[in-house]
Amino acid sequence: MMYTYRELADLLQSHGIADAKTEAAWLICKFCGADRAAILTNGQKKWESAELDAAVRRRCERYPLQYIIGEWEFFGCTFRVSEDCLIPRPDTEILVEEALKILPQNSVICDLCTGSGCIAIALLKARPDLRAMAVELSDTAIKIALENARLNGVDDRLILLCADVLADGVDKLKTLMAQENIASFDVVVSNPPYIPTKDISTLEPELAFEPKMALDGGADGLKFYRSIVKNYTSVIRGGGCMLLEIGADQARDVCALTEREAVVIRDLGGNDRVVRISL
Ligand SMILES: C[S@@+](CC[C@H](N)C(=O)[O-])C[C@H]1O[C@@H](n2cnc3c(N)ncnc32)[C@H](O)[C@@H]1O
Repeated sequence: MMYTYRELADLLQSHGIADAKTEAAWLICKFCGADRAAILTNGQKKWESAELDAAVRRRCERYPLQYIIGEWEFFGCTFRVSEDCLIPRPDTEILVEEALKILPQNSVICDLCTGSGCIAIALLKARPDLRAMAVELSDTAIKIALENARLNGVDDRLILLCADVLADGVDKLKTLMAQENIASFDVVVSNPPYIPTKDISTLEPELAFEPKMALDGGADGLKFYRSIVKNYTSVIRGGGCMLLEIGADQARDVCALTEREAVVIRDLGGNDRVVRISL
């Protein structure tokens, strides 16, 4: 098929894709080797390639653009993404910004449920003085996190641990900390799965292609917060803190899991997005 930029945008829009113009430009750039300026200024030009055809077909099935392209930007860094990991979301950048505001020089951080590694890697890239450990249950996601750490040049400061945050993850983490001479973390960050199980099938079609284990927060969406707040404060130094990304309606429930000081931070859309628990 041959498409002008406008024809492709219209096709994507007719399949329910909200930001169809931007996505049309992304696809033409990636699969016809064009740059954005050439696409926007050559409105009548017809674009075609076998790769573009295949990509458009997939996208019209609501397969995520990020998986089609194979990489995505988060906090100014490029991350490889595949069906093995959650696509990094702009909302999560708030958590990174909050961590950067409070992390003292030479801090050691821990990222629970790291997925693509986007939180830990963005922090390490922004601050060459930091070191990090990151925990993830999916061994395929861990491989992507390692690839992303190398891609962003921070693999020498990141240790990845394949473990279950809900089970013996904290014990394995403590063993690894002892081996690495890390007495405690300055900050524990996490964007855990937090969607209530029954809500997953009601989300936009793209989410059906993302790993279910990256989304499913149990019956009430709070399963991971309960475990993290209960078990992982023991690895944070006095005066340190925990930063947890939350769903927009979860602030009260997450704050109620602790008797410590808990502050809710909103995202740019005015939604509750991060809870900071101070030790
Ligand atoms: C919401 S995703 C967040 C990924 C990444 N931190 C981000 O912000 O894009 C949650 C991650 O938790 C991982 N996960 C699910 N269950 C887990 C468990 N029991 N222990 C450790 N990680 C788990 C998933 O594989 C997924 O990568």
